[in-house]
Amino acid sequence: MKKIIAVITCITIVSTFLFSCYYDKADILYNHGSSSCDTMSTISYSTTVRPLLEQKCYSCHSGSRPSGGIAMGTHAADKALAVNGQLYGTINHESGYSPMPEGEAKMDDCAIAKIRKWIDAGSANN
Ligand code: HEC
Repeated sequence: MKKIIAVITCITIVSTFLFSCYYDKADILYNHGSSSCDTMSTISYSTTVRPLLEQKCYSCHSGSRPSGGIAMGTHAADKALAVNGQLYGTINHESGYSPMPEGEAKMDDCAIAKIRKWIDAGSANN
């Protein structure tokens, strides 16, 4: 009897451990829900905003003939769009702006929130 209790206790401990590992990993892998969107840390142009724009915008908005005559890809150019409202207007699909990225799904809420925060903080070159 003691042995059986010992075995059950052991299984319980092991499975609790395994389950907690499983959930940890699920959180990291799927990163779902707005609660996991970190907009509290400092948001920098070089490590946060630029990579997002590079992934979603620069393919059309750079080079010798940028789409719509809108050139992006330098801090000065991206900041100009931030300051005049076009950056946020287009990525947040606001009325009066062409929805961007063109022909693709809207950027996810977390990315938009981070860019918004960078704009509100003065679109610094940090
Ligand atoms: C597949 C190509 C493509 C991608 C990707 C793309 N754009 Fe555009 N964009 C265009 C074209 C074409 C126009 C001009 C026609 C128009 O205004 O709809 C344009 C116009 C614009 C304009 C001017 C129009 C306005 O309403 O102010 C802005 C600003 C802009 N894009 C920003 C962005 C941003 C920011 C991204 C990334 C999130 C992006 N674009 C991604 C093709 C693209």
